[in-house]
Amino acid sequence: MTPPATKPTTIHCALSEAAQVLQHASTSPALDAEVLLSQVVQRNRAFLRAWPERPLTAEQAHAYGALIASRLQGTPIAYLTASREFWSREFLVTPEVLIPRPDTELLVELALQYLSARRGAVLLDLATGSGAIAVTLAAESTESVVYASDVSTAALKIARRNAERHHVTRIRFLHSDWFEGFPGDLRFDLIVSNPPYIAEADPHLGQGDVRFEPTLALRAGPDGLAALRVIAAEAGGRLIPGGRLLLEHGYQQADELRALLSHCGYRDITHHPDLQGHLRVTEAAWPDD
Ligand SMILES: C[S@@+](CC[C@H](N)C(=O)[O-])C[C@H]1O[C@@H](n2cnc3c(N)ncnc32)[C@H](O)[C@@H]1O
Repeated sequence: MTPPATKPTTIHCALSEAAQVLQHASTSPALDAEVLLSQVVQRNRAFLRAWPERPLTAEQAHAYGALIASRLQGTPIAYLTASREFWSREFLVTPEVLIPRPDTELLVELALQYLSARRGAVLLDLATGSGAIAVTLAAESTESVVYASDVSTAALKIARRNAERHHVTRIRFLHSDWFEGFPGDLRFDLIVSNPPYIAEADPHLGQGDVRFEPTLALRAGPDGLAALRVIAAEAGGRLIPGGRLLLEHGYQQADELRALLSHCGYRDITHHPDLQGHLRVTEAAWPDD
């Protein structure tokens, strides 16, 4: 006697089982379940809600099971979908790059304010990672000349692909350990950077998405200031007189960064708060006299 055929699982059943499985592994189990199923069936979340009784094929059910198992181990949603939205654009993200954060949109906003009054400005996104900042600035400030650099060749490949994805052909990519590999005469009106700024022993490194992100993108020595120290010391020599530096940093690093920048000769040092009131971006001018 042949065994009775098992009933294929439906969208509704797959979603509710997955949300149940993920309830202790994620702060948004139902959303994660939907996003991952959308990816498997190649339809948006509205489709899943409109067709809860649709059966999944065996291949879809299998692929979904594998994604849910990875999510259960903590793999970030952005790495499972290879995608993250930043400034209303979808960026390719892989485990070789930091997942762009909404916090970094403050840096972009301030850069765009600065660029709006300076046509043809030459700008650098130092430590570009996925290229989210450089691509956004190049797309939004079409008259600027944009450079993007990183020490990670894997990250630069992703950044190039993101530039292609958004049809931004004007970015010049540089492979460099901070400024070491830059042409000697290259100077910028504006340098923006979201560098690594987490202290080696910070307990956050063992929690959530950051466990899966590249160490190179996160850790910055015993006090979290190693990268900011190098940038403060070297960026001035790469700015035109009167040029501007915009740095993202940890919410408790504003005072120390101010002292570093002031020591290195920058002027007009200003901290900018995020929506929660934390000082997360610092702006400084290189003297023009
Ligand atoms: C916090 S991630 C920022 C990525 C991206 N800009 C963003 O905001 O999503 C920091 C980046 O710094 C790069 N990085 C680390 N050390 C570097 C170095 N010595 N020179 C240049 N880039 C470096 C890492 O490869 C990583 O892409």
